[in-house]
Amino acid sequence: MNAKERRQKGAHYTTEKNILKVIEPLFLDDLRTELARILELKRGREAALRAFQDKLAGLNLFDPACGCGNFLIIAYRELRLLEIEVLKALYPSGQLDLEAAALSKVDVDQFYGIEIDEFPARIAETAMWMMDHIMNNRLSQEFGQVFARIPLKSSAHIVHGDAMEIDWTTVLAPEHCSYVLGNPPFSGFTLRDDQRAAQIRGLESLGAAGSRLDYVSYWFLKAGSYVRSTDLDVRIGFVATNSITQGEQVPQLWPALFSKYRLELSFAHTTFPWGSDARGKAHVHVVT
Ligand SMILES: C[S@@+](CC[C@H](N)C(=O)[O-])C[C@H]1O[C@@H](n2cnc3c(N)ncnc32)[C@H](O)[C@@H]1O
Repeated sequence: MNAKERRQKGAHYTTEKNILKVIEPLFLDDLRTELARILELKRGREAALRAFQDKLAGLNLFDPACGCGNFLIIAYRELRLLEIEVLKALYPSGQLDLEAAALSKVDVDQFYGIEIDEFPARIAETAMWMMDHIMNNRLSQEFGQVFARIPLKSSAHIVHGDAMEIDWTTVLAPEHCSYVLGNPPFSGFTLRDDQRAAQIRGLESLGAAGSRLDYVSYWFLKAGSYVRSTDLDVRIGFVATNSITQGEQVPQLWPALFSKYRLELSFAHTTFPWGSDARGKAHVHVVT
């Protein structure tokens, strides 16, 4: 099946509600709690706010099957909203002692993706700039100054290529990665011969040759291998069909994730029916 056929069949683009189901427990809930605590501080509040803003600006997010970038776009919006809360707390009167243009530190170049089809890959890059523009307008409204990032100096790092063939460390060094996230493809479509061959090569390279793993499992294993190359705390949040928690998939996938890559589970949702933004809804049940 080619890219056009996949789109017509209703490639499974994730709704905002489902993206939030992944990114809230993955990192947003913790960041919101941390900011609420800082806002309550009686002493050291300003320094803590500035450190928190720097923390937001130091996060790097990576979606290795990013499609049009929906996960990256929503995550970017949420980080910018948190940053605006920080700035409002730092400048409560709306009076700035510096140019609005120097205010925001969170930027699109903190976002990384891989997408096999060129058209969505290019959309992802552009859509990140569009969200940047929306959030710049929002910031301008808060402070009554025009905040624009023109000319565009930074861009999201969207690589057009096959995530099974690409060495993820060349897209984003794992020691700089904060979160791996997304909705990797599940084999609701027939793999082309070249994709099947890439999957077999990919599984071999991960020491899982000959397994009968679902297509989506590959992303879990590769993410495990990617984060194992660093001792830092990188968190992973993927949507997957619930097939990976059932039957023959379980002994092939989970022992490798827990033992070989030493991953721990920090959250999961129970199975729920999948709603998609695409034409032709996907009749699947997923876990994240
Ligand atoms: C289920 S969609 C999710 C897209 C997007 N993250 C979203 O949620 O809206 C999966 C995406 O993975 C892409 N994909 C499939 N196989 C891939 C591969 N081997 N490497 C990179 N991307 C791939 C598809 O083209 C599709 O855009």
